Amino acid sequence: MKNILVTGGTGYIGSHTVVELINLGYNVVIVDNLSNSKEIVLDRIETITNVRPKFYLGDIRDREILDKIFDENKIDCVINFAGLKAVGESVRIPLEYYENNIYGAVVLLEEMQKHKVYNFIFSSSATVYGDPTSVPVDETFPTGGTTNPYGTTKLFIERILMDLSKSDPNFNIAILRYFNPIGAHPSGLMGEDPNGIPNNLAPYITQVMVGKRECLNIFGDDYDTPDGTCIRDYIHVCDLAYGHVCAIKKLESKPGVVIYNLGTGKGSSVFDVLHAFEKAYGKPIPYKIAPRREGDVTANYTKVAKAMNEIGFIAKYNIDDMARDAWNWQKNNPNGYEKKND
Ligand code: NAD
Ligand code: UD1
Repeated sequence: MKNILVTGGTGYIGSHTVVELINLGYNVVIVDNLSNSKEIVLDRIETITNVRPKFYLGDIRDREILDKIFDENKIDCVINFAGLKAVGESVRIPLEYYENNIYGAVVLLEEMQKHKVYNFIFSSSATVYGDPTSVPVDETFPTGGTTNPYGTTKLFIERILMDLSKSDPNFNIAILRYFNPIGAHPSGLMGEDPNGIPNNLAPYITQVMVGKRECLNIFGDDYDTPDGTCIRDYIHVCDLAYGHVCAIKKLESKPGVVIYNLGTGKGSSVFDVLHAFEKAYGKPIPYKIAPRREGDVTANYTKVAKAMNEIGFIAKYNIDDMARDAWNWQKNNPNGYEKKND
């Protein structure tokens, strides 16, 4: 498999995956509606790889653009990153989330079937495990109990993919459940560029470091964990990108549906992450303890055995590397992509 269509390829995880794919000799075609990313990402990809991927400005819900893409390119495999992902927003506008993420995935899959493209990789999330009864979780843990529409779109799409596979055995599908991707490309040219006030931990910390926010609010220090803060499995976005290459190779063996958790297997607390960023910064980062955030689970990290044994996936970066690269990106691009000096 050489020709990969990456939907949402100018977004955070998509762009890092595109770089990884190009570096390994794949031909990449991107479709993105730029609802949460910028075209300048293509320049950055080109600077890093010396290759400018073919780009279609378009929406995965638009059959015409998908027909055009599949007619003009011989696609072997589709990686579907395109989707809305803000948890809080999904609670406010659930129908937009269901329409964009679920309907979008259905249209994309129908078009793939029509054009006889049968390899599909889906960006799912550890959120499908809800509040796990124990940690580390493995892929056999029950899914469900999602606490917001965003998470529910992931759960529903997983079910749709399983039904599709039963009905059409031509399909080979990898469902990848990401844990907490953070970090940035080591070049400092690509990274996470959230709109408005970041909801997630790492971008919030780097905005404090760069002076855009006053201090980090730590959402609760009274959880039943060694330091009282929640535990997550943070994974460097470049490791995560590599996980998609492992998945492509797996699909070549025509396995039907496969599911992998992608994480490091190591749980880190909010304080662990903060301290890693302080190491990168060389000074303390201001924080205060705030009330718990609704919907947060105490601990969630993964077992890595299945991904390691079946697709050879091993994360090589630790949280110090993630903090160093995220900080390098933020300090070189204090306002994210484009506006260097405003
Ligand atoms: P992102 O918002 O940076 O990237 C998503 C991209 O998809 C954006 O460039 C956006 O413009 C595009 N897009 C959205 N809807 C589209 C549509 N209908 N048609 C075409 N393009 C569309 O998000 P990300 O962090 O890179 O996440 C990528 C995928 O991974 C998402 O599906 C997300 O839900 C999933 N995921 C992300 C995380 C995380 O922590 N970032 C964790 C688990 C799963
Ligand atoms: C969140 C989403 C999850 C989504 C993932 C990636 C919720 C409940 N979960 O995961 O569905 O897949 O993002 O987009 O929103 N924290 C602070 N202060 C902050 C921000 C975060 O203390 O300003 C803490 C949180 O309480 C949590 C940890 O840092 O303990 C990680 O938070 P975050 O980065 O938002 O990721 P998740 O909550 O794991």
